[in-house]
Amino acid sequence: MIYLKHIYKTYQNSTPALKNIDLEIEKGTFVFLTGPSGAGKSTLFRLIAAFDKPTSGQIIVNETDLTQISEAQIPYYRRRIGVVFQDFKLLKSKTVFENVSLPLQIRGDSPLQIQKKVIDVLEKLNLSHRKNNFPDQLSGGEQQRTAIARAIVHQPSLLIADEPTGNLDPKLSKETMDILDSICSQGTTVFVASHDINLIEQYNKKRIHLIDGVLQ
Ligand SMILES: Nc1ncnc2c1ncn2[C@@H]1O[C@H](COP(=O)(O)OP(=O)(O)OP(=O)(O)O)[C@@H](O)[C@H]1O
Ligand SMILES: [Mg+2]
Repeated sequence: MIYLKHIYKTYQNSTPALKNIDLEIEKGTFVFLTGPSGAGKSTLFRLIAAFDKPTSGQIIVNETDLTQISEAQIPYYRRRIGVVFQDFKLLKSKTVFENVSLPLQIRGDSPLQIQKKVIDVLEKLNLSHRKNNFPDQLSGGEQQRTAIARAIVHQPSLLIADEPTGNLDPKLSKETMDILDSICSQGTTVFVASHDINLIEQYNKKRIHLIDGVLQ
């Protein structure tokens, strides 16, 4: 499902952010990624989501070789994954409903299908009352849940979430992680970066740890 072999990533004029990463994650599993700030967690996610290419090595996700993929194929690849970014990346000029609709619009669902799926996911994330608000009108936690709703609305085969509970209180963090866990039990592979050791310890999931770009 996710296969990385000898992955190195070096940004311009710096030491490698990822060093010789070998990793295999099976379809349908839930994996936590931990590690100190600057360890390379977001870098690893950017490579898996095809927002960036490794300096060397091979990445295969869902039978797609991301080191061979053409620019034209990348949008199609991304339709099958969901990403919760560390800084949300919500579109400020669009409402919660419109932000969450985007993955469905991109793949061409009908307005009726979009309406149904978005309403469902907003309900699941306790955001129904916010559907017509713009991101600037939301609390940090509401923005975060909107970002999660957008990442799961199209039922991706892979969900990557970069610190998805970073702005939430312990109760909301637990509820949010439970939602990611339920997404996983419906067949989605879930890969979550988190600093929240107390939260992680409440789940019996595989953990991988990065330090200075090296998988421990
Ligand atoms: N676009 C970039 N250009 C240059 N260096 C970068 C870039 N993005 C990240 N880095 C560097 O790569 C290393 C890994 O960064 P990354 O953002 O992947 O860490 P992280 O584990 O996600 O940290 P955090 O927990 O703070 O989010 C850091 O040294 C960082 O400064
Ligand atoms: Mg990061």
